[in-house]
Amino acid sequence: MSYSKNVHVSQHPLVRHKLSLLRDTATEPKKFRELIREISMLLGYEATNDLLTIETDVRTPLAIAKGCELADRIGLVPILRAGLGMVEGIWELMPGAEVWHIGLYRDHNTLQPVQYYNKLPVTPTVQVCLVLDPMLATGGSAVATIDILKKWGAKRIKFVGIIAAPEGIKLLSEAHPDVDIYLSAVDDHLTPHPIAESDPPQGYIVPGLGDAGDRQFGTG
Ligand code: PRP
Ligand code: URA
Repeated sequence: MSYSKNVHVSQHPLVRHKLSLLRDTATEPKKFRELIREISMLLGYEATNDLLTIETDVRTPLAIAKGCELADRIGLVPILRAGLGMVEGIWELMPGAEVWHIGLYRDHNTLQPVQYYNKLPVTPTVQVCLVLDPMLATGGSAVATIDILKKWGAKRIKFVGIIAAPEGIKLLSEAHPDVDIYLSAVDDHLTPHPIAESDPPQGYIVPGLGDAGDRQFGTG
């Protein structure tokens, strides 16, 4: 299936290798967190390939070299909880970035996002926001977060996720066509409303990796 040009699915062998380990049900929380960190760093590298730069001069031991520095202030916006694990890897690439947390959880019955944390200051302090959440399922949490950031005044927003369902890509692209989406995989579908008690809960990505928050924090 092909998506619009704002959807970027990494084909990097390292990303694909690490994603396979991440999905594996045998992967323990410690290893799971390491993989989230590493994949995020690789996706962060891809998601920042068009950041604006300003030319600078750098004094080397021998001469003056032409250099550059990032022109924009960057904000990393993890969606709590699962987005937290994506911060560290990307922050290592951009230690000057600001981190602004948005707390949302999905209501189990409606799958609608419920906001519980937002401490954004009144006016925007960054020019580019990278919204971080490993799972783009229905897309409701990503859309709600980007709604918040746009109301705040953020001018340029990118979404960095690890696995998406087609439903989430559709909702996010339609609600915010100006937002580039960076992913390591687009999976098949979402689980339907359970019929039998043994059925998995509704709205999980298949094949996916299960509950990204629980697997990171050992709470499953
Ligand atoms: C998960 C995930 C996303 C959301 C994705 O969070 O981390 O934020 O679900 O689903 P959506 O695209 O259908 O909105 P969850 O609500 O499980 O909260 P948690 O990270 O605190 O466990
Ligand atoms: N949230 C998760 O953690 N996993 C999914 O598959 C969907 C939403």
